[in-house]
Amino acid sequence: MSRIALVGSGKVAWQLGKRLTIKGFAVSQVLSRTAAHARALAKTLHASWSDQWADILPDTDWILIAIRDDVIGTVAAALSEHAPAALATHTSGATPGTVLAPFFDRYGVFYPLQTFSRERKPDWADIPVCVDASNEKDLAFLRMAAEKIGKQAYSINDSQRAQLHVAAVFANNFSNHCFAIAEKILREKGLSFELLHPLMQETIAKALKQSPFDIQTGPAVRGDEATMRRHLQLLGQHADWQQVYQLLSDSIKKEHGASDT
Ligand SMILES: NC(=O)c1ccc[n+]([C@@H]2O[C@H](COP(=O)([O-])OP(=O)(O)OC[C@H]3O[C@@H](n4cnc5c(N)ncnc54)[C@H](OP(=O)(O)O)[C@@H]3O)[C@@H](O)[C@H]2O)c1
Repeated sequence: MSRIALVGSGKVAWQLGKRLTIKGFAVSQVLSRTAAHARALAKTLHASWSDQWADILPDTDWILIAIRDDVIGTVAAALSEHAPAALATHTSGATPGTVLAPFFDRYGVFYPLQTFSRERKPDWADIPVCVDASNEKDLAFLRMAAEKIGKQAYSINDSQRAQLHVAAVFANNFSNHCFAIAEKILREKGLSFELLHPLMQETIAKALKQSPFDIQTGPAVRGDEATMRRHLQLLGQHADWQQVYQLLSDSIKKEHGASDT
């Protein structure tokens, strides 16, 4: 795979592009909707760039699509007109690989299971990369690439990956949203979010050692109804946070078989 085209220039494209390059995979071209974004990433990777899908090099070996989930199909359709023989993969946990099937004979998924941002350098040595491909040879290639850049390659099909992604939304997006609500609650009372840092660290540390189910604490699992009512009152100015509190408490009670009285 000597010619790699990176499609997109967002968080994943930047992190993946840099890691691939460090690990010896030459990204030869960056294509992205916004010219300035494509140019900036291409400069870092010493690659050529374009904001026109039709400019994809016809002899591209691997097209790595890292763009918003709901436009992957449309962009793949445009790319396939100019580089139909390439292996096309996307990086989405939530999107089936088969979204590429109408446009490419060789398609797959290259999904690094981590939360990426621009500012933080990912610890790639710890990151599992979930791969899938429409044929064995490409799967072997993607597994090799995944193991070079990440911790381990996992061959995971579309239906498994869909479940994995839902689980990841709970583990990362929802828990982070809860951290954000906690931060706002403290700020409203002039308290520092840092007060919660040791608690957050211990929560993660424990959940990595034991089943999170087994280590659940708090008023909902204890059935402390009076405390929960007081909490709901305290959240009176925030009807949406009250709903989140109630829903999560009900879910904890249900999972742990606590009585509803
Ligand atoms: N962020 C994560 O932690 C993470 C982790 C694993 C997998 N993923 C997956 O990786 C993919 C990219 O995510 P991201 O977080 O890198 O997204 P992002 O930072 O928000 O970047 C979005 C990218 O999509 C492009 N884009 C948006 N609308 C477009 C359109 N209408 N047509 C063409 N391109 C368009 C943007 O191009 P321009 O900037 O050029 O406009 C940009 O390069 C997604 O499939 C996501 O599910 C994300």
